[in-house]
Amino acid sequence: MSTLVVLGAQWGDEGKGKITDYLAEEADLVVRYQGGDNAGHTVEVGDNKYKLHLIPSGIFYKDKLSIIGNGVVVNPKALLEEIKYLNELGVSTDNLRISDRAHMILPYHIRIDQLEEKKRGKDKIGTTTKGIGPCYKDKVERIGIRLCDLFYEEEFEERLRRNIRLKNEIIQKVYQEEVLNEEEIIKEYISYGRQIKKYIVDTSVLINESIEQGKKVLFEGAQGTLLDIDFGTYPYLTSSHPISGGVPVGTGISPFQLKGALGVVKAYTTRVGEGPFPTELLDETGDLIREKGFEFGTTTGRPRRCGWLDGVMLKYASRLNGLTSLAITKLDTLAGFDKLKICTGYELNGEIIRDFPASLTTLGKCSPVYEELDGWSEEEILGVTSFDQLPENAKKYIQRIEELSGVNVDIVSIGPKRSETMIRRDIL
Ligand code: GDP
Ligand code: IMO
Ligand code: MG
Repeated sequence: MSTLVVLGAQWGDEGKGKITDYLAEEADLVVRYQGGDNAGHTVEVGDNKYKLHLIPSGIFYKDKLSIIGNGVVVNPKALLEEIKYLNELGVSTDNLRISDRAHMILPYHIRIDQLEEKKRGKDKIGTTTKGIGPCYKDKVERIGIRLCDLFYEEEFEERLRRNIRLKNEIIQKVYQEEVLNEEEIIKEYISYGRQIKKYIVDTSVLINESIEQGKKVLFEGAQGTLLDIDFGTYPYLTSSHPISGGVPVGTGISPFQLKGALGVVKAYTTRVGEGPFPTELLDETGDLIREKGFEFGTTTGRPRRCGWLDGVMLKYASRLNGLTSLAITKLDTLAGFDKLKICTGYELNGEIIRDFPASLTTLGKCSPVYEELDGWSEEEILGVTSFDQLPENAKKYIQRIEELSGVNVDIVSIGPKRSETMIRRDIL
């Protein structure tokens, strides 16, 4: 397949970074198409563990282009810090390219994100407070500042001043909080702009030319299907389109150029932040999964909420994204449990429903219907290098996932390292 999107089928943190890095060996370009530095993608290369937020997980291969597409919201300060972090660890960022159409996250976005969350009180979304929502809001409102604006410093300054003044009015009048320092921001961001200019190009041209030349392009999703602004658990979600439909609009390719979608599925479910979670385990089993899977946020360090795998969600993700393959991660974390549960439907007013509802009130009335499966031991899964060697019960678990989602599991991951990955079929 010449183009493939790797995306999260749940609420994020499925292991997209690890799987993208693994598949990137076969790719020529790795492209982010949405989100911003709210993402936290962990990639282990050899003995090193890297945490990426904005830069695509293909960056560890010197001969590949790493692209930040127009659909991404870019915080120039966070970007420069990430470039520095990688360079200091000996990872080159020379092959990084960023879309001139990408919108910029500015300090007022972050401040407003924090203030909005505070104001929501108990109804807070639990955002990463990286300014994601406020930045996308400005983009839609048509007052955003794009990276191409950095090439005209005077106009950039003028626009930035206008926005700072507007946002300061909001900060002062709506939130009664201290305003931001206009001059400091102008000075700081003109300097950041000068430093990142060299990476900024029309990435849509670059990606399309590469596809025409027969190169292999991997699109890396951030967040997950259930955090999608249209199809997620509204309003407890992010402000972009992590689903496969986000790829064309977030990169400037035609929808017909996307040949496949790989859904990354954690062997159980996790969620950071607020919002409904039908299969959540608020007991010792949930605590045990969190401990064994080391389920703490890469970006915010918050403990992740844990629960059983949700088949209703997988079917929904399969339909929305047109999934052509699944990658199951963290199968090792489930080792040691006698019995495992998979949710196969939701019970609503005495009936079983199998489609994910739109209304959170409806979702709140749903209780998961579980099927119990036998588990496998740590000894049985340790050191396994091929699918055939997997414990029989792990194979049955995978088979059930395939039945519930209607999609083949082509990749199985049993550890964070590249070597702890098994591939059943070449997909790129
Ligand atoms: P992403 O946001 O989807 O890229 O996922 P994160 O990096 O936020 O979280 C996934 C975590 O699980 C990271 O710490 C990975 O190193 C780790 N991980 C990925 N795959 C596996 C796996 O198969 N087994 C284990 N034990 N850890 C994994
Ligand atoms: P990766 O790419 C998990 C969640 C936040 C919050 C909601 C909105 O690592 O999978 P935002 O800051 O985007 O406005 O927050 O979305 N969220 C994530 N949860 N993984 C992520 O990214 C996330 N990015 C945002 O916790 O509930
Ligand atoms: Mg993450």
